[in-house]
Amino acid sequence: MTDPDSDPRSAPTDFGHVPVLLDRCVELLTPALTRHHPDGSGAVLVDATLGAGGHAERFLATLPGLRLIGLDRDPSALEIARGRLVRFGDRVTLVHTRYDGLALALAESGCTASESVDGVLFDLGVSSMQLDQAERGFAYAKDAPLDMRMDPSSPLTAADIVNTYDARALADILQRYGEERFARRIAEQIVRRRARAPFTSTADLVALLYEAIPAPARRTGGHPAKRTFQALRIAVNDELGSLRDAIPAALDALAVGGRIVVLAYQSLEDRIVKRAFADAVASRTPPELPVELPGHEPRFRSLTHGAERADATEVESNPRSAPVRLRALQRVGTGER
Ligand SMILES: C[S@@+](CC[C@H](N)C(=O)[O-])C[C@H]1O[C@@H](n2cnc3c(N)ncnc32)[C@H](O)[C@@H]1O
Repeated sequence: MTDPDSDPRSAPTDFGHVPVLLDRCVELLTPALTRHHPDGSGAVLVDATLGAGGHAERFLATLPGLRLIGLDRDPSALEIARGRLVRFGDRVTLVHTRYDGLALALAESGCTASESVDGVLFDLGVSSMQLDQAERGFAYAKDAPLDMRMDPSSPLTAADIVNTYDARALADILQRYGEERFARRIAEQIVRRRARAPFTSTADLVALLYEAIPAPARRTGGHPAKRTFQALRIAVNDELGSLRDAIPAALDALAVGGRIVVLAYQSLEDRIVKRAFADAVASRTPPELPVELPGHEPRFRSLTHGAERADATEVESNPRSAPVRLRALQRVGTGER
């Protein structure tokens, strides 16, 4: 699981974020982006999680004909990326949206929702810049308003959840999204405490978690706030629902020969990607038939064996790459494998 407070994405670097598995992403996506022309002319890459634009910049710089459509739900990330990518002029289109709004973003950018792009990249989770902005409430080590919204214009904050959901709904969130053993106990204590005064800051919640989690578990289970903060962040931003809808939309958007790469940093997201990809590479011919039915062949082939990890050198220089799981697919035409 990603742990914001021990996450080196918060280390200051150029533009505040070091792109993970950058060379591997380039290696996997370039064949799809150069199949019309070696300089990328005629190809469209969607960066569904633009962030600071580190991955995007590399693709635009190495492929001078490439067009990039960059999405992010966080307007401040889009502003940083806009400045970084300004030199590429009209080859770049930026769209403020959740990635499950991909089809609409493509339509606004002059592409169709189906078979119109050559590459899609997802680099999931939060960026170093988001963690560094203490006032956004992602990090339990920094006292801040209990917010955690990736898009500050979206309606639901972490404080809304903590102060209004009933104990059962709270426990469900902590258990499902944080895999927190003490979910029920924490939820009950939250409900008792907020009857006296609502939670307003991350420090309020961290103090309660220190009380709610028994001392022996606190000594062995990592920081007591780690799992609860992850769970709230996932719930506030509907991270899993958004990904569940976005992956099929991204697969539909790929033209034959197009490729998709996804980098996931926690098991719940990686599980969604793994399942969607397994479905995409499966034949739709009923298993009892001896031959493949025309039109029922797999639409995709896998480019990775299971999930790929960062090597020791990258993890040492950028520890934020330690939990990454990379998976990639290629869209195939009828009769291809
Ligand atoms: C790990 S960062 C991407 C970093 C980027 N690859 C780079 O090299 O700078 C992830 C970005 O995805 C964005 N994001 C997370 N969930 C999103 C969603 N559902 N829709 C759109 N953007 C999302 C975050 O706001 C963040 O800026």
